[in-house]
Order: sequence, then C-alpha cells, then structure tokens
Amino acid sequence: MMEKLMATSIPVMNADEAALLIANGDTVGFSGFTPAGAAKVVPSAVARRAIHEHSAGKHFKIRVLTGASTGRSLDGALAKADAIAFRMPYQSDPDIRKSINAGKTEFMDIHLSLVPQNARYGFFGKVNVAVIEACDLTPDGQITLTSSVGASPTYARIADKIIVELNAFHPAGLAGFHDIYEPLDPPHRRAIPLYHPADRIGSTVLKVDPKKIVAVVRHNTADENGSFSEVADTTRRIGENVAEFFAEEMRSGRVPKEFLPLQSGVGDTANAVLAALGKHPDIPSFQMYTEVIQDSVVTLMREGKISFASGCSLTVAPNVLTGMYQDLEFFRSRMVLRPQEISNNPEVIRRLGVLSVNTALEVDLSGNVNSTHVLGRTMMNGIGGSGDFARNAYLSVFTCPSTAKDGKISTIVPMVTHLDNSEHSVQVIVTEFGVADLRGKSPKERAKLIIDRCAHPDYREQLHRYWNLSKESHTPHMLRASFGMHLQFADTGTMRNVDWSIY
Ligand code: COA
Repeated sequence: MMEKLMATSIPVMNADEAALLIANGDTVGFSGFTPAGAAKVVPSAVARRAIHEHSAGKHFKIRVLTGASTGRSLDGALAKADAIAFRMPYQSDPDIRKSINAGKTEFMDIHLSLVPQNARYGFFGKVNVAVIEACDLTPDGQITLTSSVGASPTYARIADKIIVELNAFHPAGLAGFHDIYEPLDPPHRRAIPLYHPADRIGSTVLKVDPKKIVAVVRHNTADENGSFSEVADTTRRIGENVAEFFAEEMRSGRVPKEFLPLQSGVGDTANAVLAALGKHPDIPSFQMYTEVIQDSVVTLMREGKISFASGCSLTVAPNVLTGMYQDLEFFRSRMVLRPQEISNNPEVIRRLGVLSVNTALEVDLSGNVNSTHVLGRTMMNGIGGSGDFARNAYLSVFTCPSTAKDGKISTIVPMVTHLDNSEHSVQVIVTEFGVADLRGKSPKERAKLIIDRCAHPDYREQLHRYWNLSKESHTPHMLRASFGMHLQFADTGTMRNVDWSIY
C-alpha cells in the first residue's frame, strides 16, 4: 500500500510535520467515538506544538470536534497543553473536564445524532482540517476506517484538508465492518432504509477527494480504552433488576418472545446490565442496536447470547480487540459499525422498537433525569446518545445507584439540578433497590413509586415528607424547597435529615 501511496502525490510525513498543517484558531474534526478509532499521534503533536508556541509567548488553541469522547492522546494531551478553545460534543477525560469546568475551554453538549447535521450546516464554524484514523487508504481516496465511524464521514467531506493517520495496529481486514451512509439534508432527505439491526445501506469505505489529503502519518498504536472494574454488588443488583424487568415484559407479552434490539449505555452499569441479561434464563439470544459496543457484548457474542450488534464504535480493552482481530471472520457476520447519525438516528430507533438503558446522575420525583451536571454546575461528560435513544426507544430505562459519595448524596431528589431527559422520555427507573415503572402513571403516582421502589431506605421517609407537604398540587412540587437536599449538602456535606419546615 505504501508503494501505491508513494506513486501518488499524497505526502507521507511524521506527526510533527503534519501538525504544522493545523493553524492557530483552526476548527479540526478528529475521528474518534470514545477512544476507539480516535486520532492519536497528530493531536499529540499539535499539543507539543501548542506548548512550544505558548513558551514563545504566542497564542495557540484549536477548536476540537469529534464523534464523542476520545483518548488521552487527543483530549488529554491537548487539554494539558491548554490548546482547546472549543470542544464538542462529548468528553470523559479528566484533563479536558477540568479545563471545561475551569472555564478555559468552551464546551457544547449536544445529542450525538445531531453532530454531523449541525456540522454540515456550519454551526461549529468552517471545518478547516479533518484528521482521520484509517487502516487502509487507496490512491483514489478510499479510506477504510478503524474501530469507530462516529462523525468522520461528514468531517472528511466538509473539511478543506484531510490528514490520514494510517494506524497499523488495526488490520486492513477490517474492510467490510463499516456501513457508511450520510443522509441528504431536508428537503431532499429520504427514509433511512434500515429495518433490522443487521441491514446494510451504505458503502464499506469512506470516499474522499484524494486531492484534499494533505498528509498521511503512519504509526502503530492501540486504542486507549480502559478496562472495566470488577462488578460491584450495587451495580450487579441494578443489572439483575433490569434483566428481570425485561424478562417480565416478555412474559406479559409487551416485549415479543424473540426480544427487541437493545441499546445499552457506557460504563460499569451498562456492563452489569449486559452480564445480567446474558445470564437470565428467560432472555433469548438477542440483537443490539446501540452506540458503543463494549467488552461484555464481545463476551456474550462468543457465548451465542448476542447474535448481532450494530454500533458506532468498538470500544473494548486492547487485549479484547487484539483477540477479535485474530478472529475477524467470526465477527464479520455479527457486527456493523455505522456513522453516529445512523446508529443514533431517532427514525431508526423508533422503527426498530429499541429497548434503551442509560445511566443517570440523579432522578427527580417526576422522573426527570440529570446525566450531565454534578450539583447542577459541574460538567461530567455530556448527554451523549442517551437522549437520542431515550426519546425514541420503545422502552426507555434509566439506571443509577440510589446514593453517591458513601450515602451522603441521594440520587433520588425532589427536583433535578439540571435536566437532560424529561419525564416525558423516561419510562422506567431502576436502582439496586428496585424498579419504578412510570408508564401510565400520574405525577403523584410516579413520585410515590420512585420513592418506594428506588430511593435508598435511609432517604424514603424524608422524601415522603416532601411528597406529603406538596401533594395538594397536580405535580408534587414545592418551589422553595425543591433544591433543599442539594442546598443542605452544599452547607453540611450530607443530604440526610433535611428539615422541610424551614422552607
Ligand atoms: N451528585 C453528585 N455526584 C454524583 C451523583 C450525584 N447525584 N451521582 C453520581 N455522582 C458521582 C459519583 O460519586 C462519581 O464520582 P466519583 O468518581 O468521584 O466517586 C461520579 O459522579 C460518576 O461516576 P462514574 O464512575 O463516571 O459513573 P458511571 O460510569 O456510572 O457514569 C454517568 C454515569 C451518568 C456519568 C455516565 O453514564 C454518563 O456520562 N452518561 C451520559 C451519557 C450517556 O448516557 N451515554 C450513553 C448513551 S449511548
């Protein structure tokens, strides 16, 4: 392949040379959806360049667009170098989070399905450069992506220049795993012809104008995904409660006996939910229509419990990915990676009848969910795809442990301090104590169910007192007292034993 590239005018260079093609103030669309498939050596080189420019007293910051979160070589390195002026749409690296919450980086939190469309409309400014990780590239501009698709097709198409990171860690045999389809914008958009998670509707490669490729940078670097912690008892119980709830939905005929495509969020709780579904004797082998394909999906696929997974990224620990790459033919017929505009597409999610499971930081007595802002002000990661799925799923479940910070915070509160998913999109709440099925319930009924089934027993009496004091209204809500638990936590370090009479 190198010979083929050398026969073209596409320049092959090192990362530091390629970083010089990115100017101060540029908007850069990087590949990456989670650390999977994220650009690695070029952003690190841009970070080095920023440090060098800053030490010479010069200003150097770029605007960073990606598919979702990325790895430490991108968000971590650039944030540490104080080189990110604007960031969109999601992050989970501690250094970029610090930079955002310190006001050094402007951050925009947005539904992930909307990212490519909003980039096309220019809401994030002109995309000057796209930096795309690939496992193969042909002289006529056909790029085979790696472990994620994200927003790369759009960034590559609308950017003035493209830098390709050709990463030999990912085998060229990944060709065929991707399904690249970019919808037209209204009024020319057509129905997305996807009727089953395994349907393919696009191209296996990303086709770009080869004249736009200004550099190819070769390297061999693993994705920077972490591994999962041992499943804690609380998380295991949440997973088991979700699995038993779905099993009961099947017994009652509300979920068909062949099950429905599952979307499961990111992190330890999602892993525990998948593990519990895998073990449940009444849950059949199922398909996934999800955003992130994580370690537990791979395990369940090998065990035959998951028959197919459609996702946007393959976010697994490096050793799991290496194992998959040694066994590519097994996974080829069982997996597809799509752009986030399709994996998270509201039209498709509603059509397929997805069962969606995401995680909340806090939930209020109406069923409103906050997944992004700790105590209403500190940005955690972002809404990610949770809103894309929750609003459009057939069944939308939110999970969380009933308490945080050694029990000093109740995650069940009178009113959320920030709203991501509203009571109208949230149907079921699950904690380690049980399941509140809010479907068909009035506001007062919902509040009682959430307290009795989901709140930690230490907080139930306190929440019932709030409910009793506010039950005369249609929605049990006291304006003066609704943040009483948060305010007390800020003053005393605990949400326990709030005295509602002071409000
Ligand atoms: N108030 C204050 N802090 C809280 C809290 C609350 N109500 N609830 C949790 N926390 C703290 C926890 O104590 C923990 O802090 P610590 O690490 O200092 O102990 C932190 O917030 C959450 O920990 P984390 O391990 O990151 O939780 P998680 O892996 O279960 O993730 C979310 C939970 C909500 C942050 C995560 O699921 C998320 O970002 N969701 C939004 C995006 C999404 O849903 N994507 C999937 C769509 S496909």
